[in-house]
Amino acid sequence: PIEERIDDLLGRLTLAEKVGQMLMLDAREDLEDAIVARHAGSILHTSPELLPVAHRMAAEQRLAIPLLVADDGIHGHSFWPGATIFGTQLALACSWDASLVEESARITASEMAATGMHWTFSPVLCISRDLRWGRVNETFGEDPYLLSVLGEAMVRGYQGDGLTDPEAVLACAKHFAGYSETQGGRDASEADLTPRKLRSWFLPPFEAAVRGGVGTVMIGYQSMDGVPITANRWLLNDVLKDEWGFDGLLVTDWDNVGRMVWEQQICADIAEAAVVAVRAGNDVVMTTPSFFEGAQEAVSRGLITEADIDEAVRRVLRTKFRLGLFEDPRHPDLARQRAIGSSERAELNLQIARRSLVLLRNDGTLPFTQEAGGGPRIAVIGPNADDPQAMLGDWAGNSGQVPWLPDGQPREMIDTVLDGFRQLVGSDGQVSYALGAEIGELHPDPAGGTFADGQPRPPLFVAAEPDAALIAEAVAAAQASELAVVVLGDTVALNGETCSTATLDLQGGQVALLDAVVATGTPTVVVLVQGKPSTLPASALQASAIIEAFNPGMRGGRAIAELVLGLIEPSGRLPISFARHVGQQPIYYNQIRGQHGDRYADLTQDPLFAFGEGLSYTELGYAELKLESEAITADGLLRFGVTVSNTGARPALETVQAYVSDLVTSATWADQELKAFTQVEVAPGASVRVELEIPAAACTIVNARGERAVESGDFELRVGHSSRRADQLVRRFRIGAPA
Ligand code: IFM
Repeated sequence: PIEERIDDLLGRLTLAEKVGQMLMLDAREDLEDAIVARHAGSILHTSPELLPVAHRMAAEQRLAIPLLVADDGIHGHSFWPGATIFGTQLALACSWDASLVEESARITASEMAATGMHWTFSPVLCISRDLRWGRVNETFGEDPYLLSVLGEAMVRGYQGDGLTDPEAVLACAKHFAGYSETQGGRDASEADLTPRKLRSWFLPPFEAAVRGGVGTVMIGYQSMDGVPITANRWLLNDVLKDEWGFDGLLVTDWDNVGRMVWEQQICADIAEAAVVAVRAGNDVVMTTPSFFEGAQEAVSRGLITEADIDEAVRRVLRTKFRLGLFEDPRHPDLARQRAIGSSERAELNLQIARRSLVLLRNDGTLPFTQEAGGGPRIAVIGPNADDPQAMLGDWAGNSGQVPWLPDGQPREMIDTVLDGFRQLVGSDGQVSYALGAEIGELHPDPAGGTFADGQPRPPLFVAAEPDAALIAEAVAAAQASELAVVVLGDTVALNGETCSTATLDLQGGQVALLDAVVATGTPTVVVLVQGKPSTLPASALQASAIIEAFNPGMRGGRAIAELVLGLIEPSGRLPISFARHVGQQPIYYNQIRGQHGDRYADLTQDPLFAFGEGLSYTELGYAELKLESEAITADGLLRFGVTVSNTGARPALETVQAYVSDLVTSATWADQELKAFTQVEVAPGASVRVELEIPAAACTIVNARGERAVESGDFELRVGHSSRRADQLVRRFRIGAPA
């Protein structure tokens, strides 16, 4: 019946109304122009004041087709004051826990749906291989398998029990595909990718999301081999829609269609750009109002047909019918809004933050337990020690992306690291605070206010100079304490769309601050609150401990203090490798095997911290890796077991990781790839047997013809604590022909 209702509507819509259904416009611009003049079928970035007006306008149109309302609820309903804001995707990925990721998405969906949103532009399924890229923080890291598992979980969380579920929102797998692989890590430039490379690494997480029923997909900004994604019919139509059978909505990114005229310059005018976009398979055109005139002109010039437009409109209408919007346009629900940011959700947020912290180094100083007979004196120091925005990161209300939310999320909902220690250190202890350093701020670009074409030139981040007075205060606080907790990192100005960075160093006065605090001799814990991995100075590696928090969300500061004080166990594992120097880029673990010259003469290519690493407060060992059979068929299952023992004094939650290496491949391939993982609790003194399995069908490569295939022969199974060879037990196995 849905298809019949669509046919009926298509028969009654004018060409202008059809083109309007393809348009998604910014609600902050002229709403009347968007909905009445251009018949826009979707809006984004609306507000509590604008939304009812927009719905009223849509309802008053000739066929009263309901609006689709979308927003960027990336790690929480960031556009709503008082919503539950979780850690960024990168922070969540450190938990390696799909159920927690799913739960966070379920809460975000429920909070968005209560405010009248139908669609969130999440999850990001880009693979972060170049740490300079500005959107690393929005990803689940560098591994396609981990990304696929967490991405599918996030989609399940958003889309709940189905699209008619009033607590659910449409998910959006983005940015399709290869967007992260641009030159120099610079957002939206040309990506050096071939179809084979796409199929090898970048497409699988999207394919998994499509298999998992994701309702929408958003394309990237970049071009590949001379073709903007917006124009890539092979990728958008042949692969996504035909090969994978995706029957949901494909949306462009911001003004992608217009940018083919004014930035990428492959189209002479907007009518040409409309032709290219429609032919490639785009269904919804984000924030290019002139597509309205362009597409109609293209039809009247005979460059495309109305039937081409119908294809896209069919998908838009199908999605609206699937959501049940014609029966219930899902206006904001005041009763359900009362649960937004509830204390139960804050508690769950805290549990997720606890699981997302990664202990990277520890000389035994942690856990820092209170000496008998006197409370501890702890100096909490650093530019991110008491900065609420740093806890939330990008896309979080107060990062400047939400003009109608100038004060951002309520301060009292956010635990900074300083708040966390103040809450937990008893009245007999003392917590002192010193800023110690500034990171830097945005300044007008010295090159001038506009580019040659008159477009405004964005401001540049300028690092602050070390400030001797601030450092002296921090040194005094550290000297008067038993422990210094130095909270360093970056700012939202160094993360996000158009904010790639040329350096990975800790900016501003941070290195001078850390050098000075470590030199006091007071045991020092470095806590990194940052969008993406930084390169660390020598003093960080001389410090007593390092904790990676990324942007851990509203309750992150509390979780960090609990971890330092030993009230919880560290269990996070890195979803991304850390470089020692920006010049090591790319440093991801699953690189293609090279030849003898694949190295730098002046720097090891060993990462500072490797994919999968993370310490516990105890000693763990792996033994007895046993395969059920050393020879399996190409349609069989590799079953194996390993024993994890805890020989220390504290409990642990260990993430057992299984990598596969295909020993001889017809095309050069990654030396190893993550294929399975599981988490297991191991009590002090206990040993736990862990059983895992990997389908032989997962042990594929993409051959020179671009086909994914299992190549029979010898393989290695590598099981252990991380991607480092020293952490793994290894067994050989063989894959033969299918049974
Ligand atoms: O969803 C985002 C996308 O990730 C980047 N460009 C803008 C879109 C809408 O806000």
